Amino acid sequence: MAAEVATFPAKYGRVPHLAVILVGEDPGSVSYVTGKAKASAEVGIRNTTIRKPADITEVELLDIVAGLNADPEVDGILVQLPLPKHINEERVIAAINKTKDVDGFHPLNVAALWQKQPCTLPCTPKGIIKMLKAAGVDIAGREAVVVGRSNIVGLPVAKLLLDENATVTVAHSRTRDLGEVTRRAEILVVAIGRPKFVTADMVAAGAVVIDVGVNRDPESGKLCGDVDFAAIEPKASVITPVPGGVGPMTICCLMENTIECFLRGR
Ligand code: GUN
Repeated sequence: MAAEVATFPAKYGRVPHLAVILVGEDPGSVSYVTGKAKASAEVGIRNTTIRKPADITEVELLDIVAGLNADPEVDGILVQLPLPKHINEERVIAAINKTKDVDGFHPLNVAALWQKQPCTLPCTPKGIIKMLKAAGVDIAGREAVVVGRSNIVGLPVAKLLLDENATVTVAHSRTRDLGEVTRRAEILVVAIGRPKFVTADMVAAGAVVIDVGVNRDPESGKLCGDVDFAAIEPKASVITPVPGGVGPMTICCLMENTIECFLRGR
């Protein structure tokens, strides 16, 4: 991507510009936003990170989004989630100009995804499919189980796996016998946000395991995923580590989405 972006000033007069809005100081969000700025620098994308205190009003935040929408030199807008409780997340996401929605969270992008129409794909699900393909995993006809049904990961990754012709089951906190369901998985995607929630007995031998979780291990204090990596790694055919797996891939896809938004209409 860096090589591609290096050609843009001569072709288009400038490089892509990503604006990131961070509200508050949630440590996870601060670390994501720092990672996004660092990746932007590596790729040659201009990054503006706007940091606002947690007590910003919704109207003030919507004003910032409106300013970025109107700025012809801003190509991508990302509002880091979660937002403080007094702010309506859906309203803020819907306020982002659909063509600048690098997260693919705008309702029109979500609708397009579910109707198989061209759209900006959400970064984490897009990265997961890319990783599976890069690792040579056949998806068509396979049993895929997604644990978690969030708008950010669970639901869109289930849709993308369906589009790749997997047989997809979406499991969640109310699933009756979760282990029975996850053991069916040839491809297991876990995105529930609970440290080491998936144990070795819940995974079939030879499964492909994608761990989307980013948690603090309550025992060691270190970062860990939603799956017990040490116990499952010997059993799985392929598994993503935390940190170092899905997270960096997500950021790569964000860079790619920013470039796509920049190039659209050029
Ligand atoms: N919070 C956790 N993941 C994401 C993401 O992909 N985008 C945004 N904006 N916020 C997040």
